[in-house]
Amino acid sequence: MEEVVGSGPEPAVGPPESVPTPIGEVVDGGADARPTGVGEVDRVLGGGFVAGSVTLLGGEPGIGKSTLLLQLVGAAAARGTTSLYVSGEESVGQVRGRADRLGAIHDSLWLVSETSLPHILDHLETVQPEIVVIDSIQTLYDPTLSSAPGSVTQVRECASRLVGYAKRHGTTVLLVGHVTKEGTLAGPRVLEHVVDTVLEFDGDRHHGLRLLRASKHRFGATTEVGLLQMEGSGLVTVEDPSGLFLSDRVTGVSGSAVVATVDGNRPLLVEVQALVANSNLATPRRSAQGVDSGRLAMLLAVLERRCGITVSGSDVYALAVGGARINDPGADLAVALAVASSLTGQPLGDDVAAVGEVGLGGELRQVSHLDRRLSEAARMGFRRAIVPQATVNVPAGLEVLRAPTLRAAIALADVAPA
Ligand SMILES: Nc1ncnc2c1ncn2[C@@H]1O[C@H](COP(=O)(O)OP(=O)(O)OP(=O)(O)O)[C@@H](O)[C@H]1O
Ligand SMILES: [Mg+2]
Repeated sequence: MEEVVGSGPEPAVGPPESVPTPIGEVVDGGADARPTGVGEVDRVLGGGFVAGSVTLLGGEPGIGKSTLLLQLVGAAAARGTTSLYVSGEESVGQVRGRADRLGAIHDSLWLVSETSLPHILDHLETVQPEIVVIDSIQTLYDPTLSSAPGSVTQVRECASRLVGYAKRHGTTVLLVGHVTKEGTLAGPRVLEHVVDTVLEFDGDRHHGLRLLRASKHRFGATTEVGLLQMEGSGLVTVEDPSGLFLSDRVTGVSGSAVVATVDGNRPLLVEVQALVANSNLATPRRSAQGVDSGRLAMLLAVLERRCGITVSGSDVYALAVGGARINDPGADLAVALAVASSLTGQPLGDDVAAVGEVGLGGELRQVSHLDRRLSEAARMGFRRAIVPQATVNVPAGLEVLRAPTLRAAIALADVAPA
């Protein structure tokens, strides 16, 4: 008989097991976050990992994913939490070597090198860990599926079966996911829907700095950024981020400005540099590193139309120093001042920090968390801050220079063209 699709009701499958309940009578599932022991990770997660949750950690090859997760299970095992690290990419001997270096050798930490999902589920039943790392999800395969290891189907199926395991047992599951620059099909994109939390680990390979962010988090906000430093003994907390970002600063050089920015809730001082150079290209080069390229283009247009500072025939390079990534409109003023300073050859005062969003009309606008930004500037020894006009609540020890417009700020900073 020919199968008819979409005609008539589905065949009966027995009575439902689910029961609709008034929401007020439902018991709170209690997403209690337990601290991981790594402060910067707890900051990003809003407290720590939730039991029964599944987290995917994505990042480019060699950025430090295995290091971070081995440290996390090491920290859990140090508190007596039974932990299992499943490596599909490295031998147990290799992982042991890294664990030695990270100081992660504890009785409660178990290791296995395995890629078959049914075998891994068996090991989970044996070890009964409270926290498990799968490094990486791309290496897993389920032999009962016909598709090849690493294929989208395999990755998605293995992940959803691990999610099912996590929910049934209340186990915290951490998955490593590889991302390529192109973002391969079997990469974390397919997985983002099935997991509770997606963490992104990145940084500049040439600097030790690593940034951890959540792009999805079912148990909290995704605004906080974790700052870690890769060292021989593993990833360590950056104790004084502003100090780190300003450590190589050379004063008295044109094209440099310090912005009092915020990343999540954390105030941060970062040096931005600009270089304006004669171009012999038909379309002059625009290069932005660690600052938004669209924002840079906008600022160059505002400089030209509202401040009489023209760079249309020049190459312009702008960057945030030290591998920082500034995603804050409050950095506009510092970027624009750095460009103006580079063009005129006039350095900004070395005790000046800047903060303010620049509007298309050339006006300077208020930014969030201004008091926190200025307190951090004062703490780092800055004596003056160029801020938008309406600024109130000025911390002690800091002279504020209020500017209604970018043009006025350029004059206050003494970097206007003669
Ligand atoms: N002895 C060491 N001292 C300092 N840093 C080291 C040492 N060994 C490794 N590293 C750092 O660790 C990084 C590799 O970390 P890890 O293996 O955790 O990355 P990964 O993201 O898991 O990489 P993959 O994608 O290859 O699995 C290296 O790029 C290096 O920066
Ligand atoms: Mg690895």
